Amino acid sequence: MVQSRKPTDCHPGATGAGRRIYDLLRNQIADGTLVPGARAPSTRSLAAELAVSRTTVTAAYEQLAAEGFLVTAMGRVARVASPLAAPAAPGTNASRRARRAPSLSGFGRRLTGIGMPALPDAEPVRFDFLYGAVASRDFPTLVWRRAYQAELLRQQRSLYYVPPEGDAWLRSALQGYLRRARGLACEAEQILVVHGSQQAIDPCARLLLDAGDAFVFEDPGYLMARRCFEATGARCLTTPVDEHGLDTASLSQDERVRLAYVTPSHQFPLGGVLPIGRRLDLLQWAARHDAWIVEDDYDGEFRYGQRPIDALQSIDTDGRVIYIGTFSKALSPQLRLGYLVLPPELVPVFRQAKRLPATRASIIE
Ligand SMILES: Cc1ncc(COP(=O)(O)O)c(C=O)c1O
Repeated sequence: MVQSRKPTDCHPGATGAGRRIYDLLRNQIADGTLVPGARAPSTRSLAAELAVSRTTVTAAYEQLAAEGFLVTAMGRVARVASPLAAPAAPGTNASRRARRAPSLSGFGRRLTGIGMPALPDAEPVRFDFLYGAVASRDFPTLVWRRAYQAELLRQQRSLYYVPPEGDAWLRSALQGYLRRARGLACEAEQILVVHGSQQAIDPCARLLLDAGDAFVFEDPGYLMARRCFEATGARCLTTPVDEHGLDTASLSQDERVRLAYVTPSHQFPLGGVLPIGRRLDLLQWAARHDAWIVEDDYDGEFRYGQRPIDALQSIDTDGRVIYIGTFSKALSPQLRLGYLVLPPELVPVFRQAKRLPATRASIIE
């Protein structure tokens, strides 16, 4: 007889009689109650004992057989498989591993040691000071739904992968928008569509910095970007900001500096707009150090009263500025849609870098 013990809930979300039978037998195999070679209870008797249909029991046995826990054959009673065929029960490996520190790459070790900002509470609050949230009533739901449906119908021609750099039509629309709204004269080929600006910052860190290099970072600045750069093992050279953004007179002359991350159109979090004099200083500094500038234009669309100031990349004649834009502030961070405008020489390597973890772009969203 199967000794009915409460099955462990090792599979969150598992429900139903079949799932309970599966767990029950799997646990009994794992803890040795059912030893290798032992007969499993007959499907008929187990069904009667648990007051479930025989089909339910048979389905659970078939699953256990498919996973190598039971050996079944037509007309024969099911038996527990040999120990070699039976993988350890879930949880066993995990709990054994949890006791020792996992063996990680240098990147993994650095990441473990890096403190991340806490995720916001899901609990509703009376006054929400969370920055960057978009009021749901401002989202153009109807227009979005219409466009979404039209796009779904248009896409039916093929459901194959989209190129990693993103849909050609979206990139060409972005090219036009960036020229009009941000003063950027780029080719659509320079645009790489990604899942939000955070996913744009990550390859900048990985592709442009080595451990031991240094990067310039605004103080105070956007912590999640800083963490991306620090995870490479590069040193953070914090540079003060004032009401006009980055204080370019304080830029480090460290010879290992390879990159500066800046938010010139709206310094994060203080809001200063970097004046033209400082923009030129920054570009000249980058030229002297042969350094890249990562321009995070996370909310460059927003200005009160006057046209948004053009992007830093629009006055870069030396191909040093990597521009990052996002739909998170103007539409919604739930879209996870952002883009990079890359200096032409960086396009191939950034496309490759995007292809490795993500393969291709999303086209439907
Ligand atoms: C300065 C800055 N950069 C980047 C991001 C990330 O934006 P995204 O949602 O596009 O990843 C944020 C998010 O608030 C931000 O404040």
